[in-house]
Amino acid sequence: MFSLSIRAKLTLWYLVILGSLLFFFSLFLYLTMEKKLKESFDHKLRSTAYVIRSSLMEPFPTGPSLADVERIIREHFGFKPIGRFIQLFDETGKRASNIKDVEIPLSLKTLESLSKGEEVFENVTLKDGTVLRVLSVPIIVNGRMLGVVQVGSPFDQIRETLRELLLVLLILVPLALIGASLGGLFLAEKALRPIAEITKTANMIASGDLSQRIPSTGLPRDEIGNLVNTFNHMIEKLQRSFDQMKRFTADASHELKTPLSVLQSEIEFGLKRPRSPEEYQEILRSCLEEIERMSKILNGLLTLAKADAGAIKLKDEVVDVEEVARSVWKNFFKVAKENGLEFYFEGESVKVRGDKDYLKQLIVNLVDNALKYTPSGGYVRLSTFAQNGVALIEIEDTGEGIPEEDQGKIFDRFFRVDKARSREKGGAGLGLSICKWIVQAHGGEISLKSVPGQGTTFTVRLPLFQGTS
Ligand SMILES: Nc1ncnc2c1ncn2[C@@H]1O[C@H](COP(=O)(O)OP(=O)(O)OP(=O)(O)O)[C@@H](O)[C@H]1O
Ligand SMILES: [Mg+2]
Repeated sequence: MFSLSIRAKLTLWYLVILGSLLFFFSLFLYLTMEKKLKESFDHKLRSTAYVIRSSLMEPFPTGPSLADVERIIREHFGFKPIGRFIQLFDETGKRASNIKDVEIPLSLKTLESLSKGEEVFENVTLKDGTVLRVLSVPIIVNGRMLGVVQVGSPFDQIRETLRELLLVLLILVPLALIGASLGGLFLAEKALRPIAEITKTANMIASGDLSQRIPSTGLPRDEIGNLVNTFNHMIEKLQRSFDQMKRFTADASHELKTPLSVLQSEIEFGLKRPRSPEEYQEILRSCLEEIERMSKILNGLLTLAKADAGAIKLKDEVVDVEEVARSVWKNFFKVAKENGLEFYFEGESVKVRGDKDYLKQLIVNLVDNALKYTPSGGYVRLSTFAQNGVALIEIEDTGEGIPEEDQGKIFDRFFRVDKARSREKGGAGLGLSICKWIVQAHGGEISLKSVPGQGTTFTVRLPLFQGTS
């Protein structure tokens, strides 16, 4: 369908509104002028007629004559009124005199009204086509009509004035509309120019250049300015998450490629020549290890992908964190001992609302890290307690610690302080990302304190469940 640009639509609306306003204004002006002109025209006719009548009534009780009228006019007006026709009738209805050789007709109907003492206005068309506005007034002395004064003047003057006014309006209104539409176009163009910039930038972004921004300096803080800022802000966020996604894809493929190449070389090594069953067993065990590593990475990725998509529905049950932590402690106690570590547990019953399985996974990941990154001879302490309406889970270790510059990054996917060492220990760098998501999904927060060479303490804060269940 044919569609107009916003610029054209705005200008068109502007024109329609202004055009209607100008039309009604012109109409009002024209009608008012017409009324006023006619009123003043009639007023002039009346004053002439009344001056003549009152001057004729007293001294000429038997009827007026042309000479009298001319004298009276000279006395009162100083000249023969231009364009004004004056005519007198005597009491018998005969034309007594007239100024200018034009006979103004006097109809019976008019005569009837005059005899009742009324004045009569009428429009009369002369033989040459001139339209006269005529006022007839009776001369009544002692209740007897002695004659009639008629004063007429061509209507053309008014018509001419009104025609001129109409002409002026017909020229000025379209001119004003053309001027207004040019002005409107200019203003709309000026106001909408940033939109063109936005479109241009959006096109560049669509073709893959996310570093583009719409120039926002000098823009006023109006609707468009706000739109530009919001747009730039949105692109910045988009760029950040796009970069993150790119890094994530690169990291994920790299993480999966490593065990795959190990797997490939192990199998190639096994196939090179016939080997003893023990050797095959060794190769298969190594392959199994790599497969386990891959499936661990894939499980972690799957959890995070589902979490990102909001596809994980957490259970909403009352969970005693102390119970969960105690069972994790029991499960890991043997591993800790084997690694030459002391593993303490200090529990106080604290209840939270949430998903027991995910809360267990949270504690497992944190305990696993603490045991993994603490050299033998050290200790790990797991404790749960409540403080100021908050359920706290603390995992303290005397391990290698995390350098300060890395502390902000350890919750990022695939981030490991020492990639080689972490991989040796089977770490993919996803455990803490999953922990962060679990904590946030439970409305809590996770933080850490770490001194390299001395140890690390992770603290999880969750909203405490204070009701009864
Ligand atoms: N208690 C800790 N002491 C020292 N460093 C730690 C500790 N916990 C985590 N880290 C560091 O943070 C990094 C990220 O931890 P995260 O749990 O996310 O990954 P990972 O343990 O390497 O792998 P995964 O948990 O996926 O098996 C670790 O590689 C390690 O360098
Ligand atoms: Mg871990």
